[in-house]
Amino acid sequence: MRILLVGGGGREHALAWKLRRDDPSCEVIAAPGNAGMTAVARCVPVSATDIDALLALARAESVAFTVVGPEAPLELGIVDRFRAEGLAIFGPTAAAARIETSKRFAKELMLAAGVPTAQARTFTEAAAAKAEVRRLGAPVVVKASGIAAGKGVVVAGSVEEAERAVDEMLVDGIFGEAGAEVLIEECMTGEEVSLFALTDGSHVLPFIGAQDHKRIGEGDTGPNTGGMGAYAPVSLAPPALIAEAVERIFLPTLAALRAAGCPFTGLLYAGLMLTPDGPKVVEFNCRFGDPETQALLPLMASSLLTPMRAIARGESIASMLPLTWHPGASVTTVVAAAGYPGPVRAGDAITVPPDHDGVTIFHAGTKRSADGSVVTAGGRVVAATAVAPTFAAARDASTAAAAAVRFAGAQFRRDIGWREQARAG
Ligand SMILES: Nc1ncnc2c1ncn2[C@@H]1O[C@H](COP(=O)(O)OP(=O)(O)O)[C@@H](O)[C@H]1O
Ligand SMILES: [Mg+2]
Repeated sequence: MRILLVGGGGREHALAWKLRRDDPSCEVIAAPGNAGMTAVARCVPVSATDIDALLALARAESVAFTVVGPEAPLELGIVDRFRAEGLAIFGPTAAAARIETSKRFAKELMLAAGVPTAQARTFTEAAAAKAEVRRLGAPVVVKASGIAAGKGVVVAGSVEEAERAVDEMLVDGIFGEAGAEVLIEECMTGEEVSLFALTDGSHVLPFIGAQDHKRIGEGDTGPNTGGMGAYAPVSLAPPALIAEAVERIFLPTLAALRAAGCPFTGLLYAGLMLTPDGPKVVEFNCRFGDPETQALLPLMASSLLTPMRAIARGESIASMLPLTWHPGASVTTVVAAAGYPGPVRAGDAITVPPDHDGVTIFHAGTKRSADGSVVTAGGRVVAATAVAPTFAAARDASTAAAAAVRFAGAQFRRDIGWREQARAG
């Protein structure tokens, strides 16, 4: 069986690795993939957003189905295009992907369906938005409705800071169209947990919880990044909490999407905040999260391929058994280039330790240079995932593997999962 995998980051490396574990005879074609994926996938130089070229590739290679990693091609309607051509594909349509690509759409859907989330209102005029800021008082959250490269959310500690953010988005237009509508949202407090579920539109197969680390610096300090590490499971998200999230969050959201005429199929990612009033949705994503996927998939015991293929073909997953997980814990430490999350230098030679007892290196920003050696080619370069019987052992092994990755200016956090460590005492 041949599978086309769209994307080329650590998430896609982990997906290819898992699909090949589930069925070593399957062939994964990655578009565009990265230099570290060649052991598990054939990489072809087709961009993840070139939908015409991806369609041609899927047809030429007679793939059984296509898996979409990143959100950009989903927002562009890759699933609509493939389905119109009768090709099986895992992911939501552009209309269903609005659960991520339009925070306004997601918020209105959640509030109408009674899904627990922060109260919010949407504005296009700065004066009205600022009046709402003053009415709510600080702290208050200002969000660009569209996709703003992870920079569109300001958790403002003062009314002045929130008003400045409103002006930047609505008057100065710093995010362009993505910031032409802003949400003014009540501020929640609590720890955040990422919860994924595979869905055929009606039924869900939830994952275990994961927690990521957005800040560049240890102790969660400094600027935001795409994610510097993740771990799973999260002791704050026991099976009862996941069951509650399925009943109160996933199922009503999926029902609301069906009722809106845009059933969601694929992987629905709920970013939850565990508030004093229970779990509430911070946001939804319409695809696997990165780096959480790199921590979660090595812990997954059951097949990912089987439910993915069913969902891609439009089949029901109602009769599928729950996903199962290996015992123990998983920790992923991202190794980033110097300067990240700002501009980084590319082309530095890199050496990576071999995979060994429970440790797997997933590549993200790497490429093969003309002489065949692997060089850096992005902000997040590689990540080291370690699975071990205890959280502490997984963390230590992940940190050691990250330290063994060598390239000029490599930086990584040694405290991935520090909250879990603190809970363990
Ligand atoms: N209502 C809220 N209350 C408190 N913090 C929030 C709220 N909304 C967002 N945040 C914080 O901002 C971060 C980014 O917001 P999110 O909605 O996930 O946007 P994105 O991931 O698209 O940038 C969240 O992970 C959370 O830490
Ligand atoms: Mg987020």
